Amino acid sequence: MSHNTIAINQQMDKFDGHDSVWLFGYGSLIYKADFPFLERRPASIANWSRRFWQGSHDHRGTPEAPGRVATLIPEPGAVCAGMAYLITPEVFAHLDYREKNGYLRFATDMTFDDGSAAEGLVYIASADNAAFLGEATEYAIAQHIARSAGPSGPNREYLLNLAQALREMGHEDKHVFAIERYLDQLG
Ligand code: SIN
Repeated sequence: MSHNTIAINQQMDKFDGHDSVWLFGYGSLIYKADFPFLERRPASIANWSRRFWQGSHDHRGTPEAPGRVATLIPEPGAVCAGMAYLITPEVFAHLDYREKNGYLRFATDMTFDDGSAAEGLVYIASADNAAFLGEATEYAIAQHIARSAGPSGPNREYLLNLAQALREMGHEDKHVFAIERYLDQLG
């Protein structure tokens, strides 16, 4: 699959005709909401784990030296905590551009913190996208992040902002917090 997913995402018609759609964010979408939304609520989705296995050519790295950013990896029984935004359909043009480096829109059920649920969309960069980097030890991921930067800024900032946002929401994410600790040690 090509790096640029905009055209594929524009064909996603599942929520056509809806006035508003829930979007689940688990990476930079948690701490950087650079789009209008009607409502924002902490939420989670089941059977996915957040992993820094996606390459970033356009935000936290370059095509020659990609950074490492979050995607979701299927894992039965896992729960991934994040932030849900109720948005109008026009916002997807901005989001498709922002998430164009390998992320596809998928329909998902999400559960809000009060136990209620809704169906919505989530952007996931699957293992078959051209920018996917895959598994590495958390130490190797920290080393990679420590030396990467791109048009949106240092890769380290993405990881630290995400760790802080998760902590503020009261969530423990072993993978993210382990990388944060190694980054701290690397200085
Ligand atoms: C997300 O945050 O939900 C997708 C990945 C990203 O933009 O960092």
